[in-house]
Amino acid sequence: MSTLAGKNILLGISGGIAAYKCAELTRRLSERGAQVRVVMTNAAKEFITPLTMQAVSGHPVSDSLFDPAAEASMGHIELAKWADLVLLAPATADLIARLSAGMGNDLLTTLVLATEAPVAIAPAMNQQMYSNVATQENLATLTRRGVNIWGPAAGEQACGDVGPGRMLEPMQLVEHSEAFFAPKSLSGKTVTITAGPTREAIDPVRYISNHSSGKMGFALAEAAKSLGAEVNLIAGPVSLNTPKGVNCINVESAQQMFEASAQQAITSDIFIGCAAVADYRPETIADNKLKKVDGQDDMNIKMVKNPDIIAHVAGLSHHRPFTVGFAAETQDVEAYAKSKLERKNLDMICANDVSIAGQGFNSDNNAITAFWSDGKQSLSLESKQNIARQILTLIAEKL
Ligand code: C5P
Repeated sequence: MSTLAGKNILLGISGGIAAYKCAELTRRLSERGAQVRVVMTNAAKEFITPLTMQAVSGHPVSDSLFDPAAEASMGHIELAKWADLVLLAPATADLIARLSAGMGNDLLTTLVLATEAPVAIAPAMNQQMYSNVATQENLATLTRRGVNIWGPAAGEQACGDVGPGRMLEPMQLVEHSEAFFAPKSLSGKTVTITAGPTREAIDPVRYISNHSSGKMGFALAEAAKSLGAEVNLIAGPVSLNTPKGVNCINVESAQQMFEASAQQAITSDIFIGCAAVADYRPETIADNKLKKVDGQDDMNIKMVKNPDIIAHVAGLSHHRPFTVGFAAETQDVEAYAKSKLERKNLDMICANDVSIAGQGFNSDNNAITAFWSDGKQSLSLESKQNIARQILTLIAEKL
């Protein structure tokens, strides 16, 4: 039986071309036993008719705050209380901005203000509008308030552009909704995740580092938290907000990351090494800023190897957590990933091809293949949030 059976879903449709998919979405949610009631903005009605949505949901569509008949049957506050989940799909840039500003200037935004139910949004817009700082800041505000952001997917858009901003397909939104109501697969578990780059000091003002943004590790921390885990996030220097409820331990160097990881790993059920740890560090850190030397055109810094954090964790003989590594490769991804899985004694490795534009390092999206001793699963290009949720679901199955 679907976890959606008996659930009340308030589907809020705003005015984007993806609105035409909402009839299909409503059918698939209803098939699984959910009751769906539909609220539309005026712009949404330009893309799909209220009559269609009434036919597929079996209930009249609500679209106005000032409709005496609708208020008499199920008023807006009643509707807000009725919902177990408010799903806004498609959520346009305009709707996201109005939600972020806390506006209640139509029925849909008023319902969001009035409900105590969890809210999920499926962003859908042109890729440039999605990448716009204003939209990203609005999404960050909503995330901070606990709104679930499902998608968007990347790919070809109705306007001809290619990039992130496609609404997730109806079946993907159904899967997200089912997962949302599913028992929390990591509750009672402690997950420790390393994320971001490390900085290896040369002198008090210089260091060696890399371009890791930390986005994948932070997405994993957020997803693990939403699946009910206690989460420790050991983060190198990044400019990301710590997900709500996550215990963040900030470090700089690989050695500091090693010490924090070794300490947390022994009380963790799962350890995920997502950080881009510097393999080598300068043997000594100069006490004072190194000076240019007249007449000397080259400079040598002797480097020594850093400890391999994940290999240490995977090699623990007591309290060894289920250990998952990441492998960023530019060629022969499968062969290199599998040899790393064995060499480092990991339980799972998530491999991505960083030579492909639009995924991996610094990107908001990723596509990976997870390998374990006797199997593998490919997760196709999606937002790092969705990839993170899928990786953790896979880990929970293997525990
Ligand atoms: O050997 P390589 O750096 O390609 O392995 C990548 C995996 O190993 C990642 O999971 C990374 O976080 C982890 N790693 C580590 N400590 C190191 C180097 C890599 O934990 N010193």
